[in-house]
Formats: sequence, C-alpha cells, structure tokens
Amino acid sequence: MGKVFVFDHPLIQHKLSYIRDKKTGTKEFRELVDEIATLMAFEITRDLPLEEVEVETPVGVAKTKILSGKKLGVIPILRAGLGMVDGILKLIPAAKVGHIGLYRDPKTLKPVEYYVKLPSDVEERDFIVVDPMLATGGSAVEAIECLKKRGAKNIRFMCLVAAPEGVKAMEEAHPDVDIYIAALDEKLNDHGYIVPGLGDAGDRLFGTK
Ligand code: PRP
Ligand code: URA
Repeated sequence: MGKVFVFDHPLIQHKLSYIRDKKTGTKEFRELVDEIATLMAFEITRDLPLEEVEVETPVGVAKTKILSGKKLGVIPILRAGLGMVDGILKLIPAAKVGHIGLYRDPKTLKPVEYYVKLPSDVEERDFIVVDPMLATGGSAVEAIECLKKRGAKNIRFMCLVAAPEGVKAMEEAHPDVDIYIAALDEKLNDHGYIVPGLGDAGDRLFGTK
C-alpha cells in the first residue's frame, strides 16, 4: 500500500490558511500556491539518491556528496496543477515537465481527458504528479493511469488539499503511489467540492469563474 504523508511544516500550514480564505485574491493566491509547492518539493525530495565526490576547497579536499542525477519529471494535471510547477522547478530545475489535461465533468464528476504531452523517456524517469486538489480522486487516478499506460513505473502524487474519499480512491487504484498532502480535510459536499477546502483551485488561480 502507498504511504500518505501530511506535511505539517509551520510555513506550509500558515500559507495554506491564507489560500483557504475566500477574501484572498488571485495574485496572492497564485503566489502562495507557488511558495507552498516549493516547500513541499523540499520535503518530497528528501530521499533523492546522492553519490560521493571529492571537491578541492581552497584549504583541502572534501569528500562530499552531490545528487546522483536521477531523472525526474513533473506532471501537472491541467489546469490547476500548473500553479505548482514553477515552485517545484525552483528546487529541481532540470526536471522535465509533461502535461495531462483533464477536466471534471460537473454533472458526473468524472474526469474527461483532453491533452497529454509527456517527456519522450517516460520509462526512465521518476514522476511527481501535481494538482492542488484531490477530491473524488477521479482526476488523479486517471492521470496516473495515463502515465502508467505509457510506461512510467515510479510515481508520486502531490496535492495541497485532499478529501478522505480521494485518498481512498487513490489507495485502491494505485497502491504503489505515495501521496503527499498539505492538509487532509473533512469530506466532500454534494457537488464534489472539498469541505472546508479552498473552493475551485483552477478558478482561484486564474481568475475565472
Ligand atoms: C479540479 C482539480 C482537480 C480535480 C479534482 O480540476 O484541479 O484536477 O478538480 O477533483 P477530483 O478529485 O474529483 O477529480 P477541474 O476539473 O476543476 O479543472 P481545472 O483544473 O481546469 O479547473
Ligand atoms: N476541484 C476543486 O478545484 N476544488 C474542489 O474542492 C474539488 C475539486
């Protein structure tokens, strides 16, 4: 079974409180999502493999470590996942970025796929799929299915706010995928929105309705 990690770092929790606030406007919302994504990327990369190197300092030789050059890919689920990409790339700038376009049909709440563009070497990369919201879980489950069908083997999922229903759906569909969350909320409402959540992440990021 995949593990579920809830990041309770004070800075993440502080910034999350502001994006939950309905009075927070688009500009600030976007900046905060970017900052939270960076902080989460710091936590999620804790286990990146290192290799030993020797570096000549002005005083001697240091036996030290650098990243071993693991190939990483970041996959935002469009649209709202886009808001997290730059924040992650600040820490792992060499990662390739693929895109999976899904929207949730408002009546059925099922995801509808409209765009897929991935790095050519999918089979060799480790992926972080990102989306601010994990509600019913339909979109994340579908996006990860799409990646696996094309050969991806090592996938993590990172989101800001999750509902228990979405976590359960992910655990059932993709037990091999670890889930990284900033907050695990109470439930979904009748329209499939996370309660208390933060509303429609895509609309709040891009100023649409
Ligand atoms: C939102 C959100 C997730 C999805 C979560 O996207 O960004 O992708 O809903 O819901 P689920 O877990 O029930 O599938 P939306 O479909 O509103 O599209 P958008 O990002 O283009 O606004
Ligand atoms: N998508 C969102 O953007 N917000 C929710 O609460 C649920 C799905």
